[in-house]
Amino acid sequence: MRLDDILYTQGFGTRRVCAGLIQQGHVRVADAVVTDAGADFQPEGLAFSVQGTDWTWHDKAYLVLHKPAGTECSQKPSTWPSIYTLLPGPLRQRPQKGAVQGVQAVGRLDQDTTGLLLLTDDGTFIHRMNSPRKHVPKVYEVTVKHPLTDAQVQRLLAGVVLDDDPRPVKAAACEAVGEHHLRLTLTEGKYHQVKRMLAAAGNRVERLHRSQVGGFRLPGDLAPGQWRWLTPGDLAAITG
Ligand code: URA
Repeated sequence: MRLDDILYTQGFGTRRVCAGLIQQGHVRVADAVVTDAGADFQPEGLAFSVQGTDWTWHDKAYLVLHKPAGTECSQKPSTWPSIYTLLPGPLRQRPQKGAVQGVQAVGRLDQDTTGLLLLTDDGTFIHRMNSPRKHVPKVYEVTVKHPLTDAQVQRLLAGVVLDDDPRPVKAAACEAVGEHHLRLTLTEGKYHQVKRMLAAAGNRVERLHRSQVGGFRLPGDLAPGQWRWLTPGDLAAITG
């Protein structure tokens, strides 16, 4: 693939901008400046740098972000900064069928929820993960206001009725791991589901953190606000 196309596919700007960056000596491949925009490279896994930013070519982008509290999962946030401001520009500008599209969050977490958020530019993956039929388990660490009771845990497991659906929603797993700490596994993703389930069970969520999606845990070395690429092994763990 031509070097200007390599940069273009990764979100470094229009083809013209990418060619300019190369011709002006801002692009290095294998530690050498390349000024020929038409130079041919095998893109898969290619390591290069653009204006000092190191990058590795990925056909599709799959990322994990440790979402901090006080951020919105929206491109056009109303009150809090967008999670997308935590990502480098190229990830927000990757082209999709000729238009700037960038990566998208796979589902949303509330402004005050922390933890594991997946992002990708693979629409099929988003669709598959969000499909109610897929039943990907998501594990939440829930800090609650009132001491947990056995009856509350049993109600969450048996199913509680939320205001938008007469059918009860059940936790796939639910374990009190402390007086105020519940580990809850859900396979659906309804709006404010954890908070509404806890309210229906007679308690109240004080803090909410997503620790796991499928078989993939939030990496312990990923600080709030940090992101990293997912490996093929991570993706296999997520989709089962
Ligand atoms: N359930 C909620 O109530 N909030 C979230 O952010 C995620 C699940």
